[in-house]
Amino acid sequence: MGKNVIITGASSGIGEALARAFAAKGYNLGLAARRTDKLEVLARALEDAHGVKVVVTALDVQQDETVPDAINALAQGLGPVDIVVANAGITGVRRSGSGDLSVDKAVFQTNIIGAVATLDAATRIFKAQGFGHLVGISSVSAFFPIPGSAAYSSSKAALTNYMNAMRLELAKKKIAVTVIHPGFIKTDIAPGMDKYPFVIEADAAAKQMLAAIEAKKTNVIVPAMPWKPVKGLISLVPDSLMTMLVTRFMK
Ligand SMILES: NC(=O)c1ccc[n+]([C@@H]2O[C@H](COP(=O)([O-])OP(=O)(O)OC[C@H]3O[C@@H](n4cnc5c(N)ncnc54)[C@H](OP(=O)(O)O)[C@@H]3O)[C@@H](O)[C@H]2O)c1
Repeated sequence: MGKNVIITGASSGIGEALARAFAAKGYNLGLAARRTDKLEVLARALEDAHGVKVVVTALDVQQDETVPDAINALAQGLGPVDIVVANAGITGVRRSGSGDLSVDKAVFQTNIIGAVATLDAATRIFKAQGFGHLVGISSVSAFFPIPGSAAYSSSKAALTNYMNAMRLELAKKKIAVTVIHPGFIKTDIAPGMDKYPFVIEADAAAKQMLAAIEAKKTNVIVPAMPWKPVKGLISLVPDSLMTMLVTRFMK
């Protein structure tokens, strides 16, 4: 019998690519997002192509109180759950001092509260089963804050830190925790993603992520090159030099 994985935000981009990658390896899937029409089409295609079981549910992680019911419904459809991937996320551009917090609120509510609600619901299931593996899709912006996207960068830094604390807390419960930090991946998350440096296709990113998940890695950067060495180098750059460089190149 194949293993069972639940993925939020599976209607496009990285989540959809992860669903394809897991299905190709024989995993049964529980898929969640707001656009259930897209999930249904994907589900039938993956069932036909790989003979796996795919269940779907509508989920809006901004409505955090609804998250446990959606995750539980997928778990009931699948049986014991091996892996839950908290992938659903959004970006938002806002200049500091603009006086309107709506973008930042939506980003924090989705990327942090929505992700935490997903991870918490999964942890309840994993504790009852006695095993499980939590996966969160953070970002390299957790390490390199992006001007104009302060909420996004800090939401991802918070998710990374939150999950690294969860790993320490849950180690004795046999619950693994993997935090994945993508660089630039070609998806619909923001316009013109293909113009970003070192961008890779979602399917290529998903294959690397799946390998890291199966190896139960703890903190992963995808793609590793050039972002892993860049992370090390940036940690050595003094704040004054970083501010000078970013100010020079920022529009
Ligand atoms: N692409 C990149 O370069 C990149 C880099 C670093 C990190 N990431 C992270 O990767 C994750 C996936 O992003 P992506 O690039 O694949 O973007 P995407 O193609 O826009 O996919 C985002 C997914 O999240 C879902 N989603 C958004 N808001 C939701 C909500 N309130 N409730 C439930 N689902 C919601 C969307 O589904 P519905 O709209 O159907 O609900 C969609 O399936 C995000 O967490 C993002 O921050 C992406």
